[in-house]
Amino acid sequence: MSELRPVSELTEDERWMEWEKAYCRFETPEEEVRKFLKRLQHLGAQAWPLESRIVEIFCGRGNGMVALERMGFTGVEGLDLSARLLDQYSGPFPCRTGDARSLPYPDASRDIVIVQGGLHHLEVLPDDMDRVVDEVWRVLHTDGRFVVVEPWRTPFLNLVHGIGGIGLARWAWDKLDALERMTELERVTYDQWLRQPDLILESLNRRFGVEKRIIGWGKLKWVGCKKVGSTTLSGCDTTSRRP
Ligand SMILES: C[S@@+](CC[C@H](N)C(=O)[O-])C[C@H]1O[C@@H](n2cnc3c(N)ncnc32)[C@H](O)[C@@H]1O
Repeated sequence: MSELRPVSELTEDERWMEWEKAYCRFETPEEEVRKFLKRLQHLGAQAWPLESRIVEIFCGRGNGMVALERMGFTGVEGLDLSARLLDQYSGPFPCRTGDARSLPYPDASRDIVIVQGGLHHLEVLPDDMDRVVDEVWRVLHTDGRFVVVEPWRTPFLNLVHGIGGIGLARWAWDKLDALERMTELERVTYDQWLRQPDLILESLNRRFGVEKRIIGWGKLKWVGCKKVGSTTLSGCDTTSRRP
């Protein structure tokens, strides 16, 4: 385990740099791509048209886009707040530095928006979440899809953080140490996210019908279809469902 400075001593910028360091230590790019491929397949991405206009928001260093490229998708873009992380992406797709609460795309111009592990970084719930959901809804075509994969409070997640609380386990397992370091550095937003599953699902359900909702292994995997009035064009369930 490396020498770690207490989070309270870090400036906001240092906190983000530390977080990015831990994030890059957590998984190699190749491990991350394999994880994304598995998730996308689990969420039914093989059935999406390969020419779909896809935006990956909160895309970090872009390995979600690498996975989409390997699946054969051709119209992918990425957006993230961190120019430092975006610089690590070297694939063919365009990326922009930007805030997902105010998307730089025209209305109804995209088919699929994906977020993996980004929403739990939002500082103000539900306001920031509602802003992202409204923006995704706005940029999606009428039969567009919103794909969300985020941490979720499950027994497995409790177990992982329980083990992560043991200093010796962190010392012995660098990946666990990196995960716990990221969690320490994002503690406020991470905890408020995990505490409010109903609020989060309500925010999604306001604008989207549910096509898939899978909860397990510490994750929510969710696919929603854009609601137009009280219906969706792609036949999703438009009723709100509780976690
Ligand atoms: C946990 S990382 C996830 C990166 C990538 N999706 C992945 O799974 O590897 C969260 C990302 O969200 C970005 N981020 C945080 N707030 C954001 C915002 N308001 N708009 C866009 N990106 C944001 C951070 O820069 C960071 O890259």
